Amino acid sequence: MKKVILTVLITLVIMAGGFVMYIYSGSYDISQLSHHNAVTKWVINTTTHHSIDKRVEEIKVPDLSNPQITINGFKMYNKMCKGCHGAPGMNQGPMTEGLYPKPPAIYKSNDIPEANEAFWIIKNGIKMTSMPAYGPTHNDQEIWALAAFLSNKLGKMTAEEYKDWNKEYSEKKD
Ligand code: HEC
Repeated sequence: MKKVILTVLITLVIMAGGFVMYIYSGSYDISQLSHHNAVTKWVINTTTHHSIDKRVEEIKVPDLSNPQITINGFKMYNKMCKGCHGAPGMNQGPMTEGLYPKPPAIYKSNDIPEANEAFWIIKNGIKMTSMPAYGPTHNDQEIWALAAFLSNKLGKMTAEEYKDWNKEYSEKKD
């Protein structure tokens, strides 16, 4: 029994040593252009999915029925999110070609997050991706407005309607 424990321990130490050597060797390619293998991708996606699901359970959605809330959300989305996530009739910005993972074109998705999930994601961001956390810079009311626009309106908009809203509601530049 002692021999078995010793063998296991030595194996673990060798494995840990190998791992540390690998880290220091510089062999790992940190480039955005070097994509994850299938196993790493599965680990990250599954971890992300379950981590968010668990944290969303507790969040209670406030009354978002006032149309002004959705309009406020639109204004912010148009300014802060469109470059990465695109919008009906508008392509994602060129920077997204160099991001890994590439930000999803949420408006095209059949699975747009519900308001509580969108709220959590927008407030907290997603680690190891380019999805920023807006919690440090925006209050809950603003984040709920973004979540309302995203979950109730964005996916239903045509390119024409998005253009109209842009004309009507976006702050004019001088
Ligand atoms: C710099 C690029 C960037 C910006 C700006 C950005 N995002 Fe993201 N966002 C991402 C990336 C990348 C992901 C995907 C992360 C992943 O693969 O887990 C993402 C994921 C999301 C998701 C989850 C999508 C899904 O289908 O589950 C939501 C919701 C979201 N973003 C909302 C927003 C909102 C709202 C804004 C603006 C307030 C915003 N994002 C700004 C890069 C960005």
